[in-house]
Amino acid sequence: MLLPLFILVATASLANAATTLWVDTTPQSLRPYALKKGRGIKLPGGNTFPVTGNSSGNAFCILNTNADGSAGGAGVFPHVHKKTYENFYTVKGRVQLWGQNLDTYLSNSSIQQTRILGQGDIGAIPFNTIHTFSLLEPDTQLTGVLVPGGFEEFFFNRNVSPSPPIPGSGSGGGGGDETPLPGAGGFNISDLGKWDVYPQLDFVPRRDVVNGKAGPGNWYDGPNELPSNMAAPIWVARNRGPKWLSNQGGRYQIVTPFVTGQQTNGTFSQGTITLRPGPVAEGGSGTTEKRMWVRSEVATAFMMEEGQLEVAVEGYESVSLIDGDVVFVPGNTSFAYGATAEFTKFMYVTGGGWGLDYQLMANAKPWNSAFYPQEEGSGVKRGMLLRI
Ligand SMILES: *[C@@H]1O[C@H](CO)[C@@H](O)[C@H](O)[C@H]1NC(C)=O
Ligand SMILES: *[C@@H]1O[C@H](CO)[C@@H](O)[C@H](O)[C@H]1NC(C)=O
Ligand SMILES: *[C@@H]1O[C@H](CO)[C@@H](O)[C@H](O)[C@H]1NC(C)=O
Ligand SMILES: *[C@@H]1O[C@H](CO)[C@@H](O)[C@H](O)[C@H]1NC(C)=O
Ligand SMILES: *[C@@H]1O[C@H](CO)[C@@H](O)[C@H](O)[C@H]1NC(C)=O
Repeated sequence: MLLPLFILVATASLANAATTLWVDTTPQSLRPYALKKGRGIKLPGGNTFPVTGNSSGNAFCILNTNADGSAGGAGVFPHVHKKTYENFYTVKGRVQLWGQNLDTYLSNSSIQQTRILGQGDIGAIPFNTIHTFSLLEPDTQLTGVLVPGGFEEFFFNRNVSPSPPIPGSGSGGGGGDETPLPGAGGFNISDLGKWDVYPQLDFVPRRDVVNGKAGPGNWYDGPNELPSNMAAPIWVARNRGPKWLSNQGGRYQIVTPFVTGQQTNGTFSQGTITLRPGPVAEGGSGTTEKRMWVRSEVATAFMMEEGQLEVAVEGYESVSLIDGDVVFVPGNTSFAYGATAEFTKFMYVTGGGWGLDYQLMANAKPWNSAFYPQEEGSGVKRGMLLRI
């Protein structure tokens, strides 16, 4: 009586172990998955959504915009979100982002900030912050992280609600129509609040950028500290923010946080991790300990930037990720990751303030270089030879 049952279970777990993590497009429900570069739910205009509210249990949305920004700087009207935190990360090309807290803008007690974001630079826009942006280069990729997930429904609904004809354009637009707002589709602009979009049409973006910035704070000219609250936009230029060196499991990882739970009231974190291939096992067998297993209570996503990363999720075949690939792991799911190439780097997002980044930084030390230490005699050297 027991035997057939046992076989059934064994077959099921075998089948499970062979399940692939790769999917063709963003799933509509919560599960672990991996997507090749450029895959995911798409909208016209170069928008791809590798992670959505549906696929992440509403933890976060990742939106990649690939577009030509050279012709007049494609962007959107100034607006505020009251519930959605939105980060603007430049993967390639350049993006200009403006931001100012709404309350201090209205009371005229703060100064508007803008930055030109090059590759690897980020601007974090807490909710209640006026913002607008422009893409600037012919081949620009802007990666937006929107928290909580679900905001993306605005883009999908905007898309099925086409822009009204522009008055006087000869295409039959009725006289007296409001001029359509670029980026608002056919929505009534007084009624965008149901999508958590509040236009701020009096906001005039400043144009006096010098050396990539205007308004208070450092940019490429000094360290970019993380503030302890959400009172203003947060700007972190590539490698100019805080860095932590972890050697957990005997291998180096540099954690470069953009925002942690402290800057997001515990709702998410984002940054990059740069890692070295795992240590060669003792005994000279030549085998390499490639991966480190972790488990976090919150969802985790990686988007690859350099090198090659092997990722395993319990119950799935492991996958090998390269440039642009995305992997998503729900909370409370064990997974492992390890580099198979030198200087492997990825952007991470966690669906709460105390995720993988926090686990690593809690056991790491402050670090002031973009490079991890190189052993004497190591085959590959980048930058200076560093010692700890
Ligand atoms: C999310 O799921 C809901 C319910 O199934 C569906 O109506 C909506 O279109 C989905 N959104 C996206 C962006 O796929
Ligand atoms: C805002 O404050 C600045 C300096 O504090 C001042 O020059 C400017 O006139 C003020 N603007 C308004 C609209 O009150
Ligand atoms: C737009 O929305 C506002 C506020 O809900 C409403 O008063 C107005 O009539 C709407 N306009 C049109 C053209 O529907
Ligand atoms: C921060 O989160 C707590 C509870 O999670 C909430 O009560 C509080 O209003 C939040 N603060 C802000 C500024 O959103
Ligand atoms: C993971 O488990 C913890 C403890 O049971 C729970 O508090 C948390 O909500 C779970 N996380 C998710 C994403 O379900």
